[in-house]
Amino acid sequence: MPLTARYSAAQQVALKAGELARDLFAKRDSLIVENKGAQNFVSRADRAIEDFIASKLAAAFPGDAFLGEESAASFRGSPEHIWVVDPIDGTHNFLRGLRYYCVSIAYAEAGKTELGVVYDPEHDEMFHARRGDGAWRRHAGEQGRIAVSECATLKEALIAIGHHDRFPEPRHLALRHALMDAGVATRNLGSGALQLAHVAAGRLDGFVELSLNAWDALAGLLLVEEAGGYVSPFPGPEHWGEPAPVLGCARGIAGALQPLVGAW
Ligand code: IPD
Ligand code: CA
Ligand code: CA
Repeated sequence: MPLTARYSAAQQVALKAGELARDLFAKRDSLIVENKGAQNFVSRADRAIEDFIASKLAAAFPGDAFLGEESAASFRGSPEHIWVVDPIDGTHNFLRGLRYYCVSIAYAEAGKTELGVVYDPEHDEMFHARRGDGAWRRHAGEQGRIAVSECATLKEALIAIGHHDRFPEPRHLALRHALMDAGVATRNLGSGALQLAHVAAGRLDGFVELSLNAWDALAGLLLVEEAGGYVSPFPGPEHWGEPAPVLGCARGIAGALQPLVGAW
């Protein structure tokens, strides 16, 4: 099955999943919220959207494996042809009524991410990339190529630093401190995938998080790469069960940022 069919399906499925997320967002007060651990929530919305995405992709590409955040514990597939999905990235925002969350869908072959789609249903923004074909943003029927910012100095940079809030992390504080000392403006908007898409679109100059899973990171990292940015290497499929550090940024600040991040 050619990649082109998967690329178009990923965008269509992300769009429909995003519409479902927006509907459920409006009814979020009636969703039963479970606690997966400290500051780690899941609701019927996360599960329903993941089931929707998994069933659509399985119907279209029955031979492909599916690794989704909400079903990852029972994952048994092969990573040769695999979809890696976060149904809602930014669940805490979603449940609190903050409109900063997205659907993230990546597709990888033999450990290499080939497709990345991040859809922000609240602003109807579809960020998508196919390896070698650039990064794109579609909004209200209009589509255009996106590129990372031209930022070349940390003193002028706006960088998002993600943190999951599940346990205290001195290395996160050390990084914030180092960025502050370097004169960087920082944010944590609460969705790793969407923040990476916003790096790809040049709205943020960089994004760093010490501990992200493949379903949070792969689609957004491909967007940044295809938008001309720098991305740190993310571990291969044999490590997708464990979180890893993520850095994606404008090329002009990569050299200055890497030593600060490397100091973790
Ligand atoms: C989380 C978000 C958050 C990041 C966490 C992730 P979830 O994903 O991406 O920004 O800091 O590390 O786990 O729980 O909203 O899907
Ligand atoms: Ca996530
Ligand atoms: Ca999630």
